[in-house]
Amino acid sequence: MPSKHVPLSASLVDYIERCHSQSEDPLLHELREETLALGDVSIMQITPEQGAFLSLLIGALGVQRPIEVGTFTGYSAICLARPLPEEGTLLCLDSSEEWTDLARKYWERAGILDRIELKLGDAEESIQSIPEEPLFDFAFIDADKTRYDAYFELLLPRLAKGSVMVFDNMLWGGRVLPEPLVEPDARAINALNRKLACDLRVESVLLPVADGLNICRKL
Ligand SMILES: C[S@@+](CC[C@H](N)C(=O)[O-])C[C@H]1O[C@@H](n2cnc3c(N)ncnc32)[C@H](O)[C@@H]1O
Repeated sequence: MPSKHVPLSASLVDYIERCHSQSEDPLLHELREETLALGDVSIMQITPEQGAFLSLLIGALGVQRPIEVGTFTGYSAICLARPLPEEGTLLCLDSSEEWTDLARKYWERAGILDRIELKLGDAEESIQSIPEEPLFDFAFIDADKTRYDAYFELLLPRLAKGSVMVFDNMLWGGRVLPEPLVEPDARAINALNRKLACDLRVESVLLPVADGLNICRKL
């Protein structure tokens, strides 16, 4: 039986990156270029189709109060904040002043500065300082991988029932296999993928979008 999973060549990846709405968005393109100039760290930015997918989810689900863990230079935050309704607000958590200064510059240019609250500091401490109530209706997690499970546990009680949580890098460049794993990030991601698949508090699906998105919904 041939596999229905298509191995992605560089030209297919390029094709995917062009076949979504806003693929030529000049502001996002400029932010990608400026982030690229930062050097190797630019690999942390989400891909264009991941951004388009996040925007689509926010709009389709009618999200009003999302939270982002791991903001970097602000690309994913733009994708999360733009489709919000007028009264919607995004809370962004990051520990880097330098990178989020660049993010702010682009949020201002995108006209969404008033829709985004940025909290600088350790993300786990920032979430712990938020009351344990269902304040948010969407979460995007894209910070330090060994703490993904902690973010999941901390965010779950702060999300309303039915809310969606999206974790990036859940294929970790393919290094989630073979077991046993040694690298701490790979171990943490693999353990969380396996946990989410059988955690009765959520339903989840692992999708091979770029470096892998695990999408779960609070039941
Ligand atoms: C992969 S990048 C986020 C990329 C971003 N979502 C985008 O699309 O451009 C990870 C970010 O998490 C932040 N980070 C890592 N560990 C953190 C922690 N413990 N607390 C807060 N932020 C953290 C880093 O400063 C970095 O900006």
